[in-house]
Amino acid sequence: MKQISVIGCGTMGNGIAQTFALFEFKVKLYDISLNNLDNAKKTILRNLERMVNKEVITHSELEKTSENITYTNDINSVVNSDLVIEAVSENIEIKESIFKELDGKCPEKTIIASNTSSISITKLANATKRKDKVIGMHFMNPVPIMKLVEVINSTHTSKETTNIILDLSKKLNKIPLTVNDYPGFISNRILMPMINEAIEALDQGVANVKNIDGIMKLGMGHPMGPLQLADLIGLDVCKSILEVMLNGLKNEKYRPNKLLVDLVNEGKLGIKSGEGFYDYTNSRKAEFVSKRFCQ
Ligand SMILES: NC(=O)c1ccc[n+]([C@@H]2O[C@H](COP(=O)([O-])OP(=O)(O)OC[C@H]3O[C@@H](n4cnc5c(N)ncnc54)[C@H](O)[C@@H]3O)[C@@H](O)[C@H]2O)c1
Repeated sequence: MKQISVIGCGTMGNGIAQTFALFEFKVKLYDISLNNLDNAKKTILRNLERMVNKEVITHSELEKTSENITYTNDINSVVNSDLVIEAVSENIEIKESIFKELDGKCPEKTIIASNTSSISITKLANATKRKDKVIGMHFMNPVPIMKLVEVINSTHTSKETTNIILDLSKKLNKIPLTVNDYPGFISNRILMPMINEAIEALDQGVANVKNIDGIMKLGMGHPMGPLQLADLIGLDVCKSILEVMLNGLKNEKYRPNKLLVDLVNEGKLGIKSGEGFYDYTNSRKAEFVSKRFCQ
């Protein structure tokens, strides 16, 4: 495993690219949006500079890491990779079409992984002719910091593919844990109902934004409250994951609540759009509650 490609350079894609590059892999980061590629480059540089300031890495490591990443909007330049990790929007049609295209273009040896939060890895594998080499490699946000990689085996994934991905995750200083292919896997099956419930409680006026988050931080020892976490993940991503679980597990308890749907329809997606439950105009930290939720 030397050459890695990442498809999609949003919240997760740029973190995945940065992490591989830091561990001396050559990375091609592909996206259809030149604007997003430009933002990804700035985000990665800002993160690496922060690591230099905190003396986690040296300036020469920053330079080497930056040199390890190539940014591209040409999908043909990612085909000669040992591993391609798809991290585009949480939409099955988009993902299936990318898997199909990659399968047609990549050599037989290439493993194709998805960073999906909830979509069936078996369905994505079925879009290819290399079902044994398709796997879920679910990184957590923010990727450079979070230790877990949730590794999802489809019904077709070979033992060899799983072992390669487990070893590779360890080389990134991560801890891989394997799960089977059910909607939302384990992480989001448990996390998303909590986030949905927190939004419902806010909508019912049980408590305000800061107190809901404060109660879960102080009372349950969570490092971040559920509303702040929803803003970090992206409210559109939360809604999509809940919908995949609702349709896949056929249980109404996963239906995204109305306030979440309204915010997404209004373009309030959390940190990435500048506003969600908090306002990020003056700070990327969740310091200021969005005007909408200030009584
Ligand atoms: N946000 C999180 O906290 C989080 C955590 C774990 C996993 N995930 C999963 O990671 C994936 C990406 O999520 P994100 O939050 O980074 O999304 P995002 O909205 O921040 O970024 C998605 C990127 O995909 C690009 N894209 C869309 N269609 C494309 C195509 N056809 N070809 C190439 N690029 C395309 C977009 O231009 C955008 O840059 C999703 O499957 C999501 O469920 C997200």
